[in-house]
Amino acid sequence: MTRKSTGIPGLDSMLQNGFAFPSAILVAGEPGTGKTTLAVQSLFHGAREGEKGLYITAISEPQWLVQKFLSSFSFYDQQLVEKGMVNFIDLGPSIAKNPSDMLEIIKKKIEQYQPERIAIDPITPMTDLLQWRGETREFMHELFAFLKAFNSLVIITAEMSYDDIAHSQESYMVDGVIVLSYPEEEKVRRKFLEVLKMRGTKHTTGRQLIDITDEGLAVQAGLR
Ligand SMILES: Nc1ncnc2c1ncn2[C@@H]1O[C@H](COP(=O)(O)OP(=O)(O)O)[C@@H](O)[C@H]1O
Ligand SMILES: [Mg+2]
Repeated sequence: MTRKSTGIPGLDSMLQNGFAFPSAILVAGEPGTGKTTLAVQSLFHGAREGEKGLYITAISEPQWLVQKFLSSFSFYDQQLVEKGMVNFIDLGPSIAKNPSDMLEIIKKKIEQYQPERIAIDPITPMTDLLQWRGETREFMHELFAFLKAFNSLVIITAEMSYDDIAHSQESYMVDGVIVLSYPEEEKVRRKFLEVLKMRGTKHTTGRQLIDITDEGLAVQAGLR
């Protein structure tokens, strides 16, 4: 099995040296737990290894705002963005009008950019848009079938609580599930990462403490 470094310090060693390639990984957690940081950090890591990255969002936040937040991290490299090694695209405006076109737009973008690492961050607004039409399941099935056929490492983030993950369609369809959380314990809020499943991989279980600093997200060393 080919493996690629996650780009997250401390995470590769929890996963027998990284993510399987190709594979689709769900990174779930509530807002502010570090999903975007993890996904984009992994894209930049890949880009430094020569892998083209594509970041797809549908949040319709002005692009510069998202990139401004991300560009404060040391892993963010504007030159890699300018060279087209990491590409950011926002589907926001187009999909709000025609949610049913979303799948085709995503496929086209992936075919156009030919990325080896992809982040879809977060998928939740996309599936919410389709929910009322009852099209979510079909969308997810077709998206995953397409992604599977495409040779890449895909990180899909979802705004979800622990309780929702086990029952979510997303978690059935992916090869791996990572949960980020920040429970309040004894009046202290700490951030954690937990590998819930990882197909074909012996992985560390249980919540591991993480740090988010200017360097990005890292699993704390020495505590496992
Ligand atoms: N330079 C930094 N140093 C420490 N913490 C940071 C830094 N930048 C962001 N954070 C923290 O990390 C979190 C990052 O959130 P983000 O990756 O956007 O999460 P999500 O995508 O899950 O909403 C923020 O809530 C913030 O608390
Ligand atoms: Mg985010």
